[in-house]
Amino acid sequence: MSTLLHIDSSVRAATNPNPDHDSISKNIARRFIETWQENRPEDDYIYRDVGMNPPDFISQDWIGAVFTPEEKRTPAQRERLSLSDTLIAEVAKADVILISSPMYNYGMPAHLKAWFDQIVRIDKTFDFDLSRGDFPLQPLLSGKTLIIVTSSGEFGFEKGGIREDSGHLAPHLRTLSKYLGVDTVYEITAEYQEFGDERHRRSVANARQRAENLAVELSISNLAQSSNHESADV
Ligand SMILES: Cc1cc2nc3c(=O)[nH]c(=O)nc-3n(C[C@H](O)[C@H](O)[C@H](O)COP(=O)(O)O)c2cc1C
Repeated sequence: MSTLLHIDSSVRAATNPNPDHDSISKNIARRFIETWQENRPEDDYIYRDVGMNPPDFISQDWIGAVFTPEEKRTPAQRERLSLSDTLIAEVAKADVILISSPMYNYGMPAHLKAWFDQIVRIDKTFDFDLSRGDFPLQPLLSGKTLIIVTSSGEFGFEKGGIREDSGHLAPHLRTLSKYLGVDTVYEITAEYQEFGDERHRRSVANARQRAENLAVELSISNLAQSSNHESADV
């Protein structure tokens, strides 16, 4: 059995009275999850919509609590870190993480950044040792697969694309993913939302299809891995 952690971050709902307002990234992510669950209904599933329910921003008190040794933390400091503890536990438990994100101002929504800020935490998801020279930070988790689903109004943010220099969403997610313990990243992208033309329709249809295909592919290979574990354990 595996655990699938699904993080949505658009402030738009997946379904609205006017379907033109439906979140594209959430609907593509949903396609992945539904396909996965058809193949592997027994898997654990954890869902957070940080667009609708944003995690608290971190604060000076939060940093103070993080840098206080665990046994010396006051009840207030423990309380201050309880959301962070819960979110980190969800990431630690996950084998596969799906993050869907709109592009806002050429990067991720503040809501999703707030989620990462709660999770990338010293001695929980990374440790710090100056004896490592210029790279003192080291992730503590590993072995996870990440699927990034993005939607943008414009297009051409990929390597070599006409807006490569403005594409800060996927590169930022990739950089942070190592602190989630991610070894393998897949990306599904829908573009052209602001143009509302045939390119947009094709882009969304391709992204939905890719979500479906990837869910089949990964759920089957994950299944194979689980049965290998089982036979190795016997
Ligand atoms: C506040 C805001 C900022 C946006 N900034 C950008 C941007 O910088 N670049 C871009 O290509 N699209 C931008 N868009 C368009 C969204 O990326 C696009 O509508 C996307 O489909 C939103 O994701 P969703 O459909 O999952 O809600 C922005 C939209 C909003 C509401």
